[in-house]
Amino acid sequence: MATIGTDIDFCIELLNKNELVAIPTETVYGLAGNGLSSEAVAKIFEAKKRPFFDPLILHTDTLLKAKKFIKEIPEKAQLLADHFWPGPLTLILPRTDSVPDIVCSGLPTVGVRIPAHPVSLGLLQKLDYPLAAPSANPFKYISPTTALHVKEQLNDRIQYILDGGSCSIGLESTIIGFENDQPIVYRFGGLEIEAIEKVVGTVKTLTQNEVNPSAPGMLKLHYAPTKKMQLIDIADLNKFDLKRTGVITFTENPEGFLKYKILSPSGNINEAANSLFAAMRELDKTDVDLIIAEKFPEIGLGRAINDRLNRACSK
Ligand code: TXA
Ligand code: MG
Repeated sequence: MATIGTDIDFCIELLNKNELVAIPTETVYGLAGNGLSSEAVAKIFEAKKRPFFDPLILHTDTLLKAKKFIKEIPEKAQLLADHFWPGPLTLILPRTDSVPDIVCSGLPTVGVRIPAHPVSLGLLQKLDYPLAAPSANPFKYISPTTALHVKEQLNDRIQYILDGGSCSIGLESTIIGFENDQPIVYRFGGLEIEAIEKVVGTVKTLTQNEVNPSAPGMLKLHYAPTKKMQLIDIADLNKFDLKRTGVITFTENPEGFLKYKILSPSGNINEAANSLFAAMRELDKTDVDLIIAEKFPEIGLGRAINDRLNRACSK
């Protein structure tokens, strides 16, 4: 049984013994273990039922600490780190041998992030090792944005969930890799591409079609509820059964439907992003046969929302 609490010293005790704890971040909750211990990291893969070819992100609280496991940092990576850390940005960087192969699936690079959450930063400051932490959900299910979401899914697999309230962003970090020192978007997420481009200029996006679908981080089906999901044009709403369909819209009230979630009645895309995963979870618990969601505008966090919806629909 997992306890939800705020005891950082107890977390450190568990982590020092290579046990796992769930931690809050501003994006989603993570399932954390000592990122330099193969034993602890193996427990993360086991608890999530995650395949070993899908590498993890290392979380730390300062760039100085990160430099112990990063070999070099491209100029544009340094610029991004300076601008956006702590924050919802993961950088894929060349790693040193101190990072166990199991963390990064044997790749020569490792994902690194300094989260912007006072509770997890408070924990990281007291550790002399980074925390490997994927989202704290079973593999392929929706990421948790509250301590209770974590408990619902990992209750029997971990001892402690460090409570940091509801995640302020609610979508995973944006992941940026580098090819010949040029930034490439590996995953849309909580940091808008527009903000990144203001700092480093235009960035290329790695699309599904360009990569081997089994390449790390590029799994198409992800973030999915157990119910079937479909992305729709809002004009097609009337084609669906009012009782058997759960609806997710941006601003519109889907009149007549019994089960629905309006993500931001005022049309604020950040608020919509913040409500998305909880809405998917709640509709997944109802007796509908299908969940439909409208496509969001491709601006700001709208791109990350559409990315998650597309993946959830690819079942
Ligand atoms: O917001 C987040 O990033 C959250 C919180 C807990 O920090 N973490 C998270 O981790 O979303 P996870 O494991 O669910 O997703 C990390 C993604 C994976 O899809 C993984 O394949 C990719 O990052 N990744 C990690 N290391 C990589 C590497 N060296 N090369 C390419 N992709 C990598
Ligand atoms: Mg995940």
